[in-house]
Amino acid sequence: MKGLVCKVCGYVALDENRSECPICHAKNTFEEQEDAYKTPDFKAVSGETEKKHIPTFAIVNEGSLTPSNGCIDIHVRIGEIIHPALPEHHITEITFYLDNKFIANVYLTAEINPAAVIHLKSGTKGKIQVIENCNVHGKWFNKVEIK
Ligand SMILES: [Fe+2]
Repeated sequence: MKGLVCKVCGYVALDENRSECPICHAKNTFEEQEDAYKTPDFKAVSGETEKKHIPTFAIVNEGSLTPSNGCIDIHVRIGEIIHPALPEHHITEITFYLDNKFIANVYLTAEINPAAVIHLKSGTKGKIQVIENCNVHGKWFNKVEIK
C-alpha cells in the first residue's frame, strides 16, 4: 500500500500534510513509498506469513485500568497465528492511529509477546488503525471501528 514514510525513523503517516514526524520530530522528511505497508488483503506467495503479521483486535468497553473514568481498552495482537518473539525475528513496534491521526506508539523487544493495549477515553468514537513493524517482514496494517 502506498504511504508517506519518515525517512529518519520509518513512521508511516496516514494523515496528509504532515510536516513533523510525531516519533522522531524530524521536519519535512516524509516521502511517498509504493510499498509502505501491507493490508489484510495481502496474500503471501507461500506459507502463513500474513496470518502471523496482520494485527488482530479485541475491544473491551469496560476499561480495566481506569474504571472510575471509564475507558475503552484496545488490545492488539500480532497476528491470527501469534508472531515469533526471537532476537532475530520479532515485532519492533505497534503504532496506533485514530481517524488517521497518530495517537500512540509501543516499542517491543523479543523479550515480550507481540501484543499491546491502549486505553481510549470513554466515549471515543472513530476508526482505530494499527501498523506493526516486523524486523524481517516489514509493516502490516489493520483497522477496527469504535462505535
Ligand atoms: Fe515476521
